[in-house]
Amino acid sequence: MKSEPSMEFLYWTEHVLVSLLLAALVRLAVTEGWQGVLRAVLVVLRYVPGIGELINWIIHMMALQFAPQLTGGSASSKKDKKPPRVALPKKGLSCDDILQEMKKLQKEKDTDPHAGKMFAYVYTLQDDASKVQKEAVDMFMEQTGLGDHHDRFVREVFQSFIHTNVLNPFVFPALRRFEIETVSMVASFLHGDDQVVGSLTSGGTESILMAVKTYRDRARKLYPQITQPEMVAPITIHPAFEKAASYFCVKMVHVPVGPDFRADVTAMEQAITGNTILLCASAPQYPHGVVDPISDISAMALRRKLPLHVDACFGGFMLPWIEKLGYPVPTFDFRNPGVTSMSADIHKYGYSVKGASVILYKSTDYWRYQLFSYSGWPGGIFGSCSMAGSRPGGNIAAAWAVMKALGEDGYMKTAKEVMETTEFMINSIRNIPGLCILGEPHMTAFAIGSRGINILALADEMESKGWRMERIQDPNGLHCSVMPSHTKVRQKFVEDLRTAAEYVKIHKKASEEGASMAYGLAGKVPDKSLVDDFIKELYMEFYTKC
Ligand SMILES: Cc1ncc(COP(=O)(O)O)c(C=O)c1O
Repeated sequence: MKSEPSMEFLYWTEHVLVSLLLAALVRLAVTEGWQGVLRAVLVVLRYVPGIGELINWIIHMMALQFAPQLTGGSASSKKDKKPPRVALPKKGLSCDDILQEMKKLQKEKDTDPHAGKMFAYVYTLQDDASKVQKEAVDMFMEQTGLGDHHDRFVREVFQSFIHTNVLNPFVFPALRRFEIETVSMVASFLHGDDQVVGSLTSGGTESILMAVKTYRDRARKLYPQITQPEMVAPITIHPAFEKAASYFCVKMVHVPVGPDFRADVTAMEQAITGNTILLCASAPQYPHGVVDPISDISAMALRRKLPLHVDACFGGFMLPWIEKLGYPVPTFDFRNPGVTSMSADIHKYGYSVKGASVILYKSTDYWRYQLFSYSGWPGGIFGSCSMAGSRPGGNIAAAWAVMKALGEDGYMKTAKEVMETTEFMINSIRNIPGLCILGEPHMTAFAIGSRGINILALADEMESKGWRMERIQDPNGLHCSVMPSHTKVRQKFVEDLRTAAEYVKIHKKASEEGASMAYGLAGKVPDKSLVDDFIKELYMEFYTKC
């Protein structure tokens, strides 16, 4: 008896729903025509299990067929889903050969930005302005510390591609190749398999922003029930993650580090909630140069079915060589099965120009969520793989060229030298009364800590001798990233440090000036939001006054 009313209820419910659907379709047909009806039907169909997958497969096959037409690929390339993998050369190639190859490719494949045949992407003045631009690049492009020969080569490559724009990857095919091969080279030495994909960005921060956006969009698609996504990271993670959290509305859950300044894996696991969409770790973290226990975090990520981003912005181009040189380096890369993405900066220990980093994902299953497209713009169909729209081709060309020129042997040679300088500095500092090294650094960066002296006053004292010191906090210390240019001054640095430490100790100096005073005060303010507001006010001063 009970089932009859429910059958009747179902019958009427079905009729009401079908009538409402038909009414909505008729309304759409009247207001938007049959196109509108078709659009609505397709939207609904994409949610129907099986049909949605079929539509996605058709779109994928169409892209496979269509891409070679845009890239000028051959018929055989239609069958190749992936470009061939390119490893970092074992031995650096000759700069002349690289330049020749680049210019040949540019001539054969790219439209000349100066020929007046393009109607977008490149805005160039002729003659004199180009000369001024060239001189400005010569004057202001940073020195890598690898010597004049290297810097001149980087400048020349950069100059050759200065007016190119990778906003549209099909307009400058030579640059597209440089980008794909650069990604491939980095993936190879970070032990990614041939599924690893990614792109170049303007720097570490942009790579991290992209990663957080990717995981947020992935969670939106796969776990729509999560409306307030969270990510878990040790407090030592770079502030770019905090920036990403605020830009993309993902809550940052910081956990403390252990006494060795490495991520506390148990604390990370305890911080996971039903809203967690991402775990983050560093290789190494910036302040103290220590690598988080990534193998343990990776195992935990697998157990908790969460993706893990390893920020190797700082160490991606240094740790692989240090490991090969025989120094103890925790396994930090794609060899850990739980690592789903990595960032590595070419404009740091990759020794290329500012504005180059790589973001890598384990597979397109992740990378697809980084991509942006918008087909409704009257200005054209728009696609983009990064935060930036226009992307300077000079940076991408320089990144590719520098990696080819240095090769594994070039990076190893430099790593050996910088590591020896680091060891010299660390050992000397450990022998200076009143000073210590915070934690056990894994690569070419460390933090000087205090054993009883005012470290901020020490920074002031060193700056009065012409050094530029990097203050860190909780606990106070001085961060040093060691570069090739430090080798020639390492003796002087430790001598000045010893003299400055003795002076500060004897005179019981307090931090009285500039940055040290600000750090001293900031440490005493219980509410950090006051310090944050103060920093923003300072920025307003910097940018509104000369
Ligand atoms: C570990 C780490 N991640 C990310 C970044 C951010 O890189 P960028 O300054 O290129 O944006 C840095 C910069 O020092 C870093 O050390």
